[in-house]
Amino acid sequence: MTDNKKTVLVTGGTRGIGRALVEHYIKKGWSVISTGRSEEAVKTAQEALPDIKWIACDMARPSQRAEFRKQMNGVPLDLIIHNAGIQQARDYFTPADEAYSVTEETEINFLAPVDLTRSLMDNVRNAGGHVVYITSGLAIAPKQSSPIYCANKAGLRTFVKSLRQQSIMHESGVLITEVIMALVDTDMTRGRGKGKISADEAARQVTDGIEKRCEEIHIGKVKGLMFLRKLMPNLAEKLLIKL
Ligand SMILES: NC(=O)c1ccc[n+]([C@@H]2O[C@H](COP(=O)([O-])OP(=O)(O)OC[C@H]3O[C@@H](n4cnc5c(N)ncnc54)[C@H](OP(=O)(O)O)[C@@H]3O)[C@@H](O)[C@H]2O)c1
Repeated sequence: MTDNKKTVLVTGGTRGIGRALVEHYIKKGWSVISTGRSEEAVKTAQEALPDIKWIACDMARPSQRAEFRKQMNGVPLDLIIHNAGIQQARDYFTPADEAYSVTEETEINFLAPVDLTRSLMDNVRNAGGHVVYITSGLAIAPKQSSPIYCANKAGLRTFVKSLRQQSIMHESGVLITEVIMALVDTDMTRGRGKGKISADEAARQVTDGIEKRCEEIHIGKVKGLMFLRKLMPNLAEKLLIKL
């Protein structure tokens, strides 16, 4: 990493929205560090995007997060985007084989960004940097089909609000942003949902909001959801809960 370049860390940059964010910051000339779940995932991503630093870290494993933290020791970070996430369907009335335990899903979606917030605080604070968390419209109005995911994202949203206030109270100089993501056409949403936007368009709106130093960035149809929620909060919930 060269000294005069800004540095961004994007978790989960191998695919989807994270990948589009990585490509954006490469084009902008930033030093980019990104992660994937496994050596294999990172190797494939590295073949396509060789000019950045790729690190394999399974965010569901606290021991791997500790290893990751060691690798980041002393690296100034101007921007961190906590993007890695999974969404699993769960029906508590007809349980099926689930790829992830509740603990794993929560480790990836909630505990990993919270844990890395503390362990990377000096990296970002020393750089007077910016920390961005990707939540979801489902943090505002949950759906029935992925209850743990919705709870994880709602929990992350609450965490971010408290963290932002702490940053202000400490005059830390660290800006804390929540991106409330809409439905995006990625592996996560394959085969379901209508009116999805592309990962490139989602990344464009995210990076635009980051450049404007917004505290909350509402992507695509989330703008409408936030407006509806102000006028008719019950209706907003009713519209999404049956999904
Ligand atoms: N797509 C949507 O409609 C939508 C809507 C609202 C919010 N979001 C949020 O946006 C973010 C990105 O979603 P996406 O749609 O781009 O997902 P995606 O295409 O499925 O990509 C997920 C990314 O997260 C990484 N990841 C998953 N599990 C991991 C683990 N255990 N350890 C490390 N990395 C892991 C993946 O790495 P590997 O390639 O190594 O597996 C991949 O890079 C997520 O936080 C998601 O909740 C998405």
